[in-house]
Amino acid sequence: MSSHSTAGEESEQALKTAAGLSYSPGFGNEHVSEAVPGALPVGRNSPQRAPLGLYAEQLSGSAFTEPRHANRRTWLYRARPSADHPPFHRIGNGLLRSAPFTEVEPDPNRLRWSALPLPEEPTDFVDGLYTVGGNGNVLERSGMGVHLYRADRSMKDRFFCDSDGELLVVPELGGLLLRTELGPLRVEPGHIALIPRGLRFLVELLDGPARGYVCENYGQPFQLPELGPIGANGLANPRDFLAPVAAYEDREVRERQVEVVNKFGGNLWAAAHDHSPLDVVAWHGNHVPYVYDLTRFNVMGSISFDHPDPSIFTVLTSPTDTPGLANVDFVVFAPRWLVGEDTFRPPYFHRNVMSEFMGLIKGAYDAKAEGFVPGGASLHNMMSAHGPDRETFDRASAAELGPQKVDDGLAFMFETRWPVVTTRHAMDAGHRQGGYDEVWQGLETHFRQ
Ligand SMILES: [Fe+2]
Repeated sequence: MSSHSTAGEESEQALKTAAGLSYSPGFGNEHVSEAVPGALPVGRNSPQRAPLGLYAEQLSGSAFTEPRHANRRTWLYRARPSADHPPFHRIGNGLLRSAPFTEVEPDPNRLRWSALPLPEEPTDFVDGLYTVGGNGNVLERSGMGVHLYRADRSMKDRFFCDSDGELLVVPELGGLLLRTELGPLRVEPGHIALIPRGLRFLVELLDGPARGYVCENYGQPFQLPELGPIGANGLANPRDFLAPVAAYEDREVRERQVEVVNKFGGNLWAAAHDHSPLDVVAWHGNHVPYVYDLTRFNVMGSISFDHPDPSIFTVLTSPTDTPGLANVDFVVFAPRWLVGEDTFRPPYFHRNVMSEFMGLIKGAYDAKAEGFVPGGASLHNMMSAHGPDRETFDRASAAELGPQKVDDGLAFMFETRWPVVTTRHAMDAGHRQGGYDEVWQGLETHFRQ
């Protein structure tokens, strides 16, 4: 991206860049990036005059005094300070909702949805956010929101910023170019992207209509899970997380045509800007967006017997003050070998205190023979009884137990500490499946004394 080009030229340049984006690898690093040599001050953050006439600005993602391992901030060196904007005013929330969720009563039933239909009217990423449910309290920075998104057009001169939480984006259909203040990221189905709290960005569609899932994490930022006896390596390895490198546009717009939408306190607010907020020429820090290719996940599992608990598949975890208790975990069911002897290999029947929202990126999931489709979702709330459907149970109970590759799908789970309370529109939706309970009918007793 270059100085003083038109919006059309910038869009073309961004797409070209997307074919070969440069990234800065590593999770939790102190990344350093400058689009113009000399734009980063040396040896200090806030010199009397920042280099090249830039403004210095700090974006913090933790309290200043949190311990080093949890401390997050990025220093930005930009053409205009973010403070240069008129008042934000309320705009419509569309189908976006936030915690606390009070539209419907918490529901103990097992719920399932088919894929969200693609938009019939022009819809960008922000307009297309559709909340399924969530928990916690957005103003107390606890809990999470579960959203779907659908879009058929790129955001143009429109930027989004979520003050309420970080956004974990899980595409199911269509690639996205996320143009952030810290630089561009490309994400496709099979990858995830994370936009940290408060970072401004826009979403361009790379190849037609797009759809997927978003976990809005109000709580502590996602981090890599502890590995314990697994050792120093395994699961998601830090170097496979890719942060952007600095890329800027220095562009003034007449008559305040650039809109910055800010999600704050559960509502959308907007302010017209007279310049692009993507004017960061250099930056350094660890409060950064990133992408991760889920095929890089180093899957661990049993090589003796029994189906491990799904925590073994945790990619990222948002911790709480209680050790081991996640605000929300992001878990992936990636291709893997099953070799357990004398083992019922699909997920066992269970009732858990944690609540599980599942989605399917592609293919099929090994606990459900049918009905759980790409772009669809299921919700198994606290203590709801679930597990393999009848057909899966019958098949797995009689299967020859040779080594078996499970590679016909990519499913994931947002597993959260509190029940997920749904929205009214998710409960009333035409794409919600009736009769989900029937998949567990016919599991008759085989008990013989
Ligand atoms: Fe489950």
